Amino acid sequence: MRINFARGVPAPESFPVADILCCASQVVSRNMLESLQYGPARGPASFVRWIAERYSVNDMMVLTGDGSLGLFELFCSVMLKPGDTVFVESPTYDRVIEILTARGARVVAIALQEDGPDLEQFKSALADTVPRFFYLIPDFQNPSGLTCSAEKRAAIAALARQHNILLVEDAPYRLIRYTGATLPSFFELAPEVTLHMSSLSKIIAPGLRAGYVVGNEALIGKLVKAAENRYVTPGNFALSIAGEWCRQGHLPAQLASLIALYGPRLHAMTEALTAALPELHFGRPQGGFFLGLHLPPGISNSAVREQAQQLGLALSDGKGFFLTGGEHFLRIPFCGLTVAEIQEGVAILRRAVELARPA
Ligand SMILES: Cc1ncc(COP(=O)(O)O)c(C=O)c1O
Repeated sequence: MRINFARGVPAPESFPVADILCCASQVVSRNMLESLQYGPARGPASFVRWIAERYSVNDMMVLTGDGSLGLFELFCSVMLKPGDTVFVESPTYDRVIEILTARGARVVAIALQEDGPDLEQFKSALADTVPRFFYLIPDFQNPSGLTCSAEKRAAIAALARQHNILLVEDAPYRLIRYTGATLPSFFELAPEVTLHMSSLSKIIAPGLRAGYVVGNEALIGKLVKAAENRYVTPGNFALSIAGEWCRQGHLPAQLASLIALYGPRLHAMTEALTAALPELHFGRPQGGFFLGLHLPPGISNSAVREQAQQLGLALSDGKGFFLTGGEHFLRIPFCGLTVAEIQEGVAILRRAVELARPA
């Protein structure tokens, strides 16, 4: 396959290799026991402390672990029984749909509009059942690239408080903003009803699996107990390296360099799509890794995928991000692609759309 639009991985040239090597050597020489020995299930104390300070919470409100997705699975193992109701945005992250479905949850899709979840649908679903939790990706959503507006965040936080609904806020892209101002997170608006999940996968490197969750002490305490029973200690070596990297203060410069690298790639993608496929609608992300492209009603994403595959372009299955439907949706990544790959990929996509158009 010549060009890969199927996966949204970080650009390997963004990995801060020299700093990672330096931090690896420091954590072994300075604090060998914390990085190489079994340790608390919560993760290395120094990384936990750095996160707690960043979120202005105490250490007991933090759990680190092997990727935020791994922590989400752990959370579901504690929270969910088969048949429990969970709300998700539609579309949403495909792996979360798979985890929830595998646990037998009754998953209710709340349509995602340009400015966040459809509040009327949320309220009417709520009138039917109060869910165990509502999983949301408010910043530069995977797969749509959309961001929930400040007004909708406030309304959702108020409803969550009123009905005592746990908001699971997945925020791995939050810090990678190219334009516009940062909006308050659910954790800032309603900390008592929010479990905030994030990781350094998109910021340092996914191979470190440096994920974390921040939430109320009682819930985090249950997750820590479950983590202890499941794997004793997370990947302390990698988490200590991530913690050391954060502690050394590399985050602001790394974010600036990610934005300088990825911002022009997003621009190249939107320019190329507008020029090649002017009749197609796509959301305009202000940050993150993806944009969502909507094919016209007569053209299915499976037909486009098939044609694209033959022409050398890999696309992900847009239907995977929906519980039902999604036949006309494509998730388009841009961060891990050079401008030349973006232009070539979009030229192939244009050809594939033409070929998939019914005669
Ligand atoms: C919304 C969302 N949540 C979680 C993850 C998983 O991240 P991690 O590498 O921290 O497990 C991803 C990765 O693509 C994602 O897009």
